[in-house]
Amino acid sequence: PDEATVFSMIQPTGKFHLGNYLGATRAWKDLSDLQKGNQKIIFGVADLHAITIPKPDAAEFRRFRKEAIASILSVGIDPSKVSVMYQSQIPEHSQLHWLLSTFASMGSLNRMNQWKSKSNIKEVDNETIGKVKLGLFSYPVLQAADILLYRSTHVPVGDDQAQHLELTRTLAEQFNNTYNVDFFPIPTTVFTPTSKILSLNSPDKKMSKSDPNQQSVIYLTDEPDVIKTKVKKAVTDSISESFNYDPIKRPGLSNLMNIVSGIQRAPIDVVESEFQKFNNYRDVKNYVSEVIIEDLKGPREEYKKLIQDEAYLDKIINEGQGRARDLANKNVNEIMKIMGF
Ligand code: ADP
Ligand code: NA
Repeated sequence: PDEATVFSMIQPTGKFHLGNYLGATRAWKDLSDLQKGNQKIIFGVADLHAITIPKPDAAEFRRFRKEAIASILSVGIDPSKVSVMYQSQIPEHSQLHWLLSTFASMGSLNRMNQWKSKSNIKEVDNETIGKVKLGLFSYPVLQAADILLYRSTHVPVGDDQAQHLELTRTLAEQFNNTYNVDFFPIPTTVFTPTSKILSLNSPDKKMSKSDPNQQSVIYLTDEPDVIKTKVKKAVTDSISESFNYDPIKRPGLSNLMNIVSGIQRAPIDVVESEFQKFNNYRDVKNYVSEVIIEDLKGPREEYKKLIQDEAYLDKIINEGQGRARDLANKNVNEIMKIMGF
């Protein structure tokens, strides 16, 4: 629709990798290419969310934040169409978080999975919950505030965020019903069209910024020979007479197929039949490396340029953040007025 507002963010918790690219930034670019008319697009760096895990070192955090902006832009997102910003620099995020926290029930937050997985809690009892920080528990409320602040209609995220989007919709409805207004649109979750990319060496967990084993992660900045080496060492299996997609029995191989499928935007059965021409894992891995190297070439080169051009990055952020903040400020003023402030 003409009035659509597309919104998403990513945390500056480390160097961006192939999973972030396929599951977030490239999907954002694809969406932004469809932008028309009055549609607004806002993509941000969720730096307030990033401090809900053990605190990063301040100098490292500053670097991750800037790298996140360069990583987002490196996929070719057009900053004249898209507002790129830091969450922390638009104080209305925190302001709306407070207002919405007065709607969110403890029970609804208690049902969320993320705070349990991030604090390694299996069984919730008083002792374990006593160690969980309020900010981590309240993370989904801040996320709802992020989205609703811009009256967003479409939110591209991975499927791990489905629960948070559900809460966002509930809070939007609660606000609208409480004040008998139609202020917040009920935002639609737009699932990014890629399978979870798994760690190359432990294909039972996802590829992640926070993985200490850098050999398991393909970073956007990896040079071709580094990508080749990592893929060559990727854990697969010893069944080599055929290369069938089987995420349960052959997670390593299936992960390589998912990578190719994601990059080529090709259905997995098309990739699977393509793999039938290979005779051994060396051929499979050579092919997979080539596909990755070729696709990441543009973003890698663009990233290198951007990260060195501080003045340009500052200009882009100032413009994007300025537009986003104007909207955020206008909306929070209206929200507070509706509430009687
Ligand atoms: P990370 O675990 O690398 O820190 P985040 O939790 O910050 O990743 O996720 C940022 C975005 O990237 C989300 O939209 C998420 O769905 C996507 N994403 C992260 N890791 C992967 C992955 N391994 N495969 C696909 N998408 C991913
Ligand atoms: Na993470």
